[in-house]
Amino acid sequence: MTLNNLNDDWWKQAVVYQIYPRSFKDANGDGLGDIPGITSKMRYLRELGIDAIWLSPFYPSDLADGGYDIIDYRNVDPRLGDMADFDAMVSQAHQEGIKVIVDIVPNHTADRHAWFLEALASGRGSAARDRYIFKEGSGPNGEFPPNDWQSLFGGPAWERVEDGQWYLHIFAKEQPDLNWNNPEVHEEFKKTLRFWSDHGTDGFRVDVAHGLAKKLDGASMKDLSRWTVHDSLSHDGTHPLWDRAQVHDIYREWRQVFNEYDPPRFAVGEAWVVPEHQYLYASPDELGQVFNFEFAIANWFSGDFRTAIRDGLQAAKSSGSTATWVMSNHDVPRHPSRYGLPQAPSKATHQLPKDWVLRDGSSYEENRELGSKRARAAILMEAALPGSVYIYQGEELGLFEVPDIPWDRLEDPTPFRTRGRYTEKGRDGCRVPLPWDSLDTPDPASWNPRFGSGASFGFSPAHDADGARSADPHLPQPLWYRDFSVDVEQRDETSMLSLYKACLSRRAELLTPAQDSSVTWLDEGDDVIAYTRDAAESSAYTTIASITNFGATAITLPEGDLILSSAQLDDRSQLPQDTSVWIGMR
Ligand code: NOJ
Repeated sequence: MTLNNLNDDWWKQAVVYQIYPRSFKDANGDGLGDIPGITSKMRYLRELGIDAIWLSPFYPSDLADGGYDIIDYRNVDPRLGDMADFDAMVSQAHQEGIKVIVDIVPNHTADRHAWFLEALASGRGSAARDRYIFKEGSGPNGEFPPNDWQSLFGGPAWERVEDGQWYLHIFAKEQPDLNWNNPEVHEEFKKTLRFWSDHGTDGFRVDVAHGLAKKLDGASMKDLSRWTVHDSLSHDGTHPLWDRAQVHDIYREWRQVFNEYDPPRFAVGEAWVVPEHQYLYASPDELGQVFNFEFAIANWFSGDFRTAIRDGLQAAKSSGSTATWVMSNHDVPRHPSRYGLPQAPSKATHQLPKDWVLRDGSSYEENRELGSKRARAAILMEAALPGSVYIYQGEELGLFEVPDIPWDRLEDPTPFRTRGRYTEKGRDGCRVPLPWDSLDTPDPASWNPRFGSGASFGFSPAHDADGARSADPHLPQPLWYRDFSVDVEQRDETSMLSLYKACLSRRAELLTPAQDSSVTWLDEGDDVIAYTRDAAESSAYTTIASITNFGATAITLPEGDLILSSAQLDDRSQLPQDTSVWIGMR
């Protein structure tokens, strides 16, 4: 158990490991990761050196959007286990000193949620319909959508129901948006927060936290034709959909629920808002913490990361909270691939490399050696920063994106929607089941990504409870996964896994007890990110420096003990390109 985990403020400097449950570990052989699978890997997680796990949705779902379409908020998908399995998992996690965070999805339910079925059955003007956003259509007979808003997954954001009304769905049509002007919706979610808190959950990750308070009267509906988070629309809290001032009332209400518990439950918001607004969500009377996604969208330029760090620290300061750092999650291509692709000029333009978005395999000019080297440097740059570090499952293995999953094996809705139909492969490439065991490798001669091979790199057991061969992993794993299997990396001192373990244990030992949320920048030139932090009092050092060189020219390192380096240094005093070090100063 880390020191951090023993106090109520554990989340302020935590290392949180994101689990995408259906792809983490399959215990029963149905090809789908499950809750007992997570329990079985708790020791691995403890040895990795994390403070908490965050579970993406594991609730009953038709998987129209990877589980973010929830049929029942207070239950476990029977394919993933049951409530007893959940309780056992929490208890095992707590025994290992690991906190548990679950995902709350308040913007929309699934279309098979009891409320939505009731809304369909109850008809126009009913109380059941008022829990969602139903409108009459436009055109002489209401045959056109109420307006031309587009779903974030492509295609119209409105779906017509049998009696002619239309409902809003900002995401897939299987995800009808809830009406947060309805008091019943408020009560329902407070009940859900209490339910999971009563089951020992330590905190919540709040999905689409900036989207709940909508203004959908006649005037606002005409104001906009399309929207994106980074559009030129108002950022003053008056936008009809995003980041509205009223959304904060909801989180102030939730804070009261979090504070009913001892220690108070923790929350982190997923709010894709301008950096200047992040702090509002993170304030102590609201969620307490918010994701800063600047790292996740940064290209491999020192300027991008410098801005990300400055913005993140500033937001944390304004809210009286701590910052968050994230490079990968279940929505973005894995960062070793991103860093190994041709880089767009700068994130400042919000331009992502074309290949970054396309993910169709064909134009994938990935340089893996370079991508890995940079990813190694990146974790040392990130993990010395004050605040919480969010790690996405498989990141510790240095997994790359799987860009070439056959079209007919994809699960993510985005490839099949109107926007760029069949040109974007969507998000499955970072959701491929994890490789645990290289001995369970398919025979390369008969391997075909379309069909199973009986092997799953240890993701599933060889047989299910009835002795039948386990089902194939729900997304196909590529052959190269073998080299990234946990057992291979555990044996290799130079692997990404060994680097992550070393980095997280040194972080816990040297840095985390400090509650500070600022860094002292060192001026090493434009191509370098270099900062120092006060070292923990119990350590042998006064300060720890983290230095990353992005530039082609090696830089001279300051005096001190070399604690970690992302690559072997030929000359102790020189830091070459795409390399990071931690130096302890006495
Ligand atoms: C954000 C989640 O991270 C993403 O996976 C999901 O598709 C949308 N919210 C909708 O719930």
